Amino acid sequence: LTDGPLEGRRILVTSGPTHEPIDPVRYIANRSSGAQGAAIARALAALGAEVTFITGPASVPPPQGVQIVPVETAREMLEAVQAALPVDAAVFAAAVADWRVKEAAGTKLKKDGSGRPPRLEFAENPDILATIAQMQEGRPRLVIGFAAETHDVIAHATEKRARKGCDWIVANDVSPATGIMGGAENAVTLITAEGAESWPRMSKEEVARRLAARIAEALGEDG
Ligand code: C5P
Repeated sequence: LTDGPLEGRRILVTSGPTHEPIDPVRYIANRSSGAQGAAIARALAALGAEVTFITGPASVPPPQGVQIVPVETAREMLEAVQAALPVDAAVFAAAVADWRVKEAAGTKLKKDGSGRPPRLEFAENPDILATIAQMQEGRPRLVIGFAAETHDVIAHATEKRARKGCDWIVANDVSPATGIMGGAENAVTLITAEGAESWPRMSKEEVARRLAARIAEALGEDG
């Protein structure tokens, strides 16, 4: 496993959902399985990269041969990402919750007999991808985000690339009819400064291998 094209490169990958607590026993989450992120980490490690895998509570087993940093919330994920720097490249495959409950209760919420359910107030979570992509100093050379869209995939992903300030966006159509969310296959479009490149539908493992090869190519080009 020596002298792969990513030998000596440090790469971080975020993966999985985040869990945002409501009280000590309840949380808000999403349906991300963490399968694509785990496959990407495996593919990068197979090319020799030193991978830090920062994962929310995923439903697939974590990859082997990488450094695993388990987190629960978006804010913990941001801290773990910042602690993993510096890196040559960063791949943000996590499905981070956009909002958290502003003040999670310290004790379990109880029905109070009034028939009135509790009202939850939300706060916006930090955008981890945008935070890292817009670093003034120490920014990874290659910052890659994902875009899960249900319609107008390329237009939305191109806009997202510009707004977040990342180098590449891996866009996919997650409308229910595709069966991609939670499934074994993915059909992605890679958005770079040069334009949009649609890949045929293939396994998430194959998407990961292709993406890892492209990352190796990009990092190889400028030293
Ligand atoms: O804005 P949206 O959530 O669609 O962007 C998706 C991309 O941004 C993914 O790469 C995801 O990992 C990243 N992201 C993040 N932190 C957030 C929200 C999204 O890193 N709070």
